[in-house]
Amino acid sequence: MSTAEGVSVPEGEALRSKIQGLKWAHHIALGPYTTPGMWSKRHQDWVRDNLPQDLSGRTVLDIGAWDGYFSFLAEERHASRVVAIDSFLSPEHHKDTLAAFELAKGVRGSKVEYRVMDLFDAEELAESFDVILFLGVYYHLRDPIHALERLRSVLRPHGRLFMEGLVAAGSAPVLRFCEPGEIDPFTFSIATVRGVVQMAHAAGFREAKLLGLSESLWKAWLHATVPRSLRPRVAAFVRRRTGRGRGLPRAIFELGL
Ligand SMILES: C[S@@+](CC[C@H](N)C(=O)[O-])C[C@H]1O[C@@H](n2cnc3c(N)ncnc32)[C@H](O)[C@@H]1O
Repeated sequence: MSTAEGVSVPEGEALRSKIQGLKWAHHIALGPYTTPGMWSKRHQDWVRDNLPQDLSGRTVLDIGAWDGYFSFLAEERHASRVVAIDSFLSPEHHKDTLAAFELAKGVRGSKVEYRVMDLFDAEELAESFDVILFLGVYYHLRDPIHALERLRSVLRPHGRLFMEGLVAAGSAPVLRFCEPGEIDPFTFSIATVRGVVQMAHAAGFREAKLLGLSESLWKAWLHATVPRSLRPRVAAFVRRRTGRGRGLPRAIFELGL
């Protein structure tokens, strides 16, 4: 056990068993261990690789940070200050999230500040930021345009907002509702790529640039793990069981004022 700023930080076997006793969304390097994130590492790496490599001297607000992976990444990329917020949308999904974040913060010797806060209240931080990370959140909101307007108000004039999420198929500028059971109970609406761009403009961002479009993770899994002859049957089964949303690609955008 060592101490960082007066907080005890477990090491070795004690750290390993603490990590295993908590629920993690992300794969976070903690000393010799990596947390067993429940989401795809491939996706996490894809988002990471689309974010700026150098955040030297910039202040960062991470929206919907969960256990803090992207906040720690911003710190690793030399952000001068990082604030993470999350409203803990579902208490069941977020069991132990704060404990997981605090453990990771202690082990990493991080200075990230975490607030349990709804993004619609972000102005209460009484601060504006150079960079806002809005990753994996917009489709959970009933009013993503209003959310972007609120975030715009805490972005510095030359700041950048990175927005990532599921995107719907189609070339029209559409934001559409999800059908019950299509994705999960917390996903309300998804936009096409052009829909995201138009939402950003409607919320007052002059610039909205597509940085990357991921191939469908589900299809990648199908190709990597299922023999070719079985793919159509497995695909039909998965679609029946999980809804069409599983096959959707994700996109990442850079927005500016
Ligand atoms: C799918 S996770 C994304 C986690 C992480 N940002 C990422 O991209 O890997 C969505 C997160 O957004 C949070 N969230 C949803 N609505 C929110 C809101 N109105 N204010 C703040 N956080 C919110 C959820 O609690 C959850 O932790």
